[in-house]
Amino acid sequence: MNPTTTSASRGEPYLRVEGLAKRFAGEGHELAAVNGISFSVPKGRLFTLLGPSGCGKSTTLRCIAGLERPETGLVAVDGRTHVDTARNVFIPPDKRGIGMVFQSYAIWPHMSVYENVAYALEVKGLPRGEIRPRVMEALELVGLAGYAARPAPKLSGGQQQRVALARAVVGRPSLLLFDEPLSNLDAKLRERMRQEIRDLQQRLEITAVYVTHDQTEALAISDTIAVMEGGKILAMGAPREIYGTPGSRFVADFVGMTNIVRGRAVAAASPDGTGQVEVAFGRVRCRFEGAIGPGDPVELLIRPENIVVSCGQPAPTENLWQAAVEGVTFLGECQDSVVKVHDERLRIRVHPWLELRSGQQIYLEFVPERCSAIRAD
Ligand SMILES: Nc1ncnc2c1ncn2[C@@H]1O[C@H](COP(=O)(O)OP(=O)(O)O)[C@@H](O)[C@H]1O
Ligand SMILES: [Mg+2]
Repeated sequence: MNPTTTSASRGEPYLRVEGLAKRFAGEGHELAAVNGISFSVPKGRLFTLLGPSGCGKSTTLRCIAGLERPETGLVAVDGRTHVDTARNVFIPPDKRGIGMVFQSYAIWPHMSVYENVAYALEVKGLPRGEIRPRVMEALELVGLAGYAARPAPKLSGGQQQRVALARAVVGRPSLLLFDEPLSNLDAKLRERMRQEIRDLQQRLEITAVYVTHDQTEALAISDTIAVMEGGKILAMGAPREIYGTPGSRFVADFVGMTNIVRGRAVAAASPDGTGQVEVAFGRVRCRFEGAIGPGDPVELLIRPENIVVSCGQPAPTENLWQAAVEGVTFLGECQDSVVKVHDERLRIRVHPWLELRSGQQIYLEFVPERCSAIRAD
């Protein structure tokens, strides 16, 4: 029996990462690139590590791939332990059966599309007769069946990334890892390719870890998102959960745009989960996230799209404020505007048909269930 295979593997999450930590030697100090992170991914799901540059996404991914050796932690795929620092287990990258797609396509310029994809199987020593159908199948999957003979440099950026994708799946990997695979493509192509990656991943029911700094991309393709900062995971959940209940100022601000207003809790939350917060312009009813007591300093988080804007005065209701338009940016599909409520500036987003002008008086209503208060640190 393979000593690294645990018999209790059934029923476990497909990918398990526990207590992963990786330091790098800096100038006169050590840098904790990954600082004790844990997560697991069920089979066939796409899990995204989202965060700003330098937060430790690639290092985490490279530890899973075996390209970095963590100081502590455990990595297991399908019940097979790849890394367990406590037991001194470290399976080399080429024995892990993992497919990887990078930002730089890393395809070989002196080879054809076919040769690029076939190479990985040739290295493995697969018989020639088996290689051809598998390469053609992989090229078919990424929409490049007609391009087998084309020299690699004669491909567009999107086609090169498809070759990289075909090469990553041709070996029928146990796990697929993506490190910012779309960053070199223009906006339109990025959108199309991210959908193609998602379709392929779901069609093959392959388990994937996807790294990106682009929150829209993360929201669009993930089953689960982990938001990272400073080598740690700050929040983890389905895209709607991360966006709707971010739980911290950093996550709220990094994933989507949000207005952040400082204030104090008037009282603890009512049984419906909402409570009142005293801010500079008055009292706002909102959802309370986490333990918040009377008088606690809080931050009120309001997404621009959760502010209902009217030009005429609506019937009086809770959370209704008069505001003055300061500036308007026309974005085609919507208008992005800065307004002032007393001395507080807020971003709002309105339909382009509602023509806002600077200086105009408008009314804002915050939907209580759609804005939240978190404890200020
Ligand atoms: N090989 C290395 N040597 C020294 N420092 C590194 C090395 N790789 C990454 N780092 C540092 O570790 C931190 C995390 O890097 P990385 O995982 O690449 O972040 P991300 O992919 O989120 O941008 C950064 O501060 C980076 O400079
Ligand atoms: Mg990176």
